[in-house]
Amino acid sequence: MPTAGPRVVLGVAGGIAAYKAVELLRLLTETGHDIRVVPTESALKFVGAPTWAALSGKPVSTSTWDDVHEVAHVRIGQDADLVVVAPATANLLAKAAHGLADDLLTNTLLTARCPVLMAPAMHTEMWEHPATIANVALLRSRGVLVVEPAVGRLTGADSGKGRLPDPEELALLCGRVLARGGLGPDLRGRRVVVSSGGTREHLDPVRFLGNRSSGRQGHALARAAVARGAEVVLVSTSSLPDPAGVKVLAVTSALDMQDAVLAESVGADAVVMAAAVADYRPTERLDVKRKKTQTLTLELVQNPDVLRALVERRAAGQVLVGFAAETGDGDTSVLDHGRDKLARKGCDLLVVNEVGPDGHPTGFEGSDNAATILGADGSVTDVPLGSKDALADVVWDLVAARL
Ligand code: CTP
Repeated sequence: MPTAGPRVVLGVAGGIAAYKAVELLRLLTETGHDIRVVPTESALKFVGAPTWAALSGKPVSTSTWDDVHEVAHVRIGQDADLVVVAPATANLLAKAAHGLADDLLTNTLLTARCPVLMAPAMHTEMWEHPATIANVALLRSRGVLVVEPAVGRLTGADSGKGRLPDPEELALLCGRVLARGGLGPDLRGRRVVVSSGGTREHLDPVRFLGNRSSGRQGHALARAAVARGAEVVLVSTSSLPDPAGVKVLAVTSALDMQDAVLAESVGADAVVMAAAVADYRPTERLDVKRKKTQTLTLELVQNPDVLRALVERRAAGQVLVGFAAETGDGDTSVLDHGRDKLARKGCDLLVVNEVGPDGHPTGFEGSDNAATILGADGSVTDVPLGSKDALADVVWDLVAARL
């Protein structure tokens, strides 16, 4: 099935998570990518060559001794726009780090000049072994994007860090890396914190005061930062799937969010507050369900302002970004509100977007957004209507320029 889409090599190493790479392959082909699968011999013990061949529409080989007349061991890597290895085993990471080339995949890794993304999956002990840590550091120092494994159930009864991230999220991450083309991981070595979603302020065990923030923009910011090489912590109320390579801390209320964000912000290079933090919470949270009464008067108390607290304790060089979803009113435009808020909050950048009506492209829960990003230095960056992923990349461009 020849396509004009980006050429992606999907390397598959010999781990049980190879079965999840089948789903990744399907997602990448469905979104128009031209995929060549290069498994290792061990990978074929988990998933056979016919599966890879049928789903990619291309021949499958593990060896440099097949199709020698086509010099496949050089050409596959040279022609690729992206090489993604999922799963990458400890053995594959070690071979790649030290430039070994004893099969088609490791040869391909040496000839590729495009971005290379590796998604390791292995038992926690292997991931945390000093040899693996050193190999990952070496690969990252050369610009390879090594994605942190997810935490959860492993092959046996045990659980821990070492799972392959969700294939859908890996496919989205591949899309972000491809969208940046040959640009290197410019946030490599940086630690960033993103907050997302609307906080929930409980009235009783059943009910809460909330807002309509879906968390999509924050997830897009986290994904984009991973694609640019950052270590990313996402403090979120959202139930969206965890973005690949991101440490996700689930929170509920504004107070939970404050605790998690302030703790994680220590030593962070940048904090982006994309969350819609409730301004108020009920004075009292009942332990039992509140019974219906003729009228109900709720007393609310103001929540702490997390962004202001971040500004007050900001370490030298830390970049702080706020979001402001505004509607214009009377004589005051959305941007006037934004400028006023930037001055009031004291952050470095404020992403101001107009809340569109329901069904509007910039309305809540949509996948698109448009914004004007105001800088404390007086800069104004207009971001036209586009995906939340695209807006996320502009935010990181502005952050990277200030780091
Ligand atoms: N924010 C925060 N803590 C709060 C409220 C808001 O950290 N208690 C952050 C948001 O995450 C966002 C920015 O501040 O990055 C602006 O949020 P917004 O709700 O627009 O600001 P408010 O100060 O609450 O102003 P308004 O009076 O417009 O609600």
